[in-house]
Amino acid sequence: MRMKIMASMAVLGIATVSATPALANSSNGETLFKQRCQMCHTNKPGARSGAGPNLSGLSGRTAGTSEGFRYSKKLAASGIKWNQKTLNKFLTSPNKMVPGTRMVVSIPNEEQRKAVVHYLLTGK
Ligand code: HEC
Repeated sequence: MRMKIMASMAVLGIATVSATPALANSSNGETLFKQRCQMCHTNKPGARSGAGPNLSGLSGRTAGTSEGFRYSKKLAASGIKWNQKTLNKFLTSPNKMVPGTRMVVSIPNEEQRKAVVHYLLTGK
């Protein structure tokens, strides 16, 4: 009985997500950012960087250029421009894309990764 209820809740959850993809993405991305990124990163413009660089204005920015943050040489020299494609790749496995980076947090789940990238680029 319990299993049955949980299964139908799961089905409902999926139906909700596919009915409002933009909305589901946005809140999800923000929540994920708060849960997994915010202990090191702020995304508020002008706010001080923490253990990781300030991530505001990331869209179109060159990697390793947030003012006042001391990056690893590897990321600073990478020449990467942040966009949907590069962020998706980076967050799949930071160390594969930029060997030696000090950013070690990945988001293995594709849906969650998409939502966080969307949030990073649009703030939604
Ligand atoms: C434990 C601290 C920590 C956590 C948690 C963390 N990061 Fe980072 N992040 C860093 C550090 C440190 C760097 C700088 C890496 C370097 O200099 O090589 C970085 C760099 C980055 C960059 C490159 C920024 C730039 O200016 O080029 C992005 C993008 C990024 N992180 C995204 C994320 C996302 C998204 C999450 C959550 C899923 C996250 N990080 C979680 C520490 C963290």
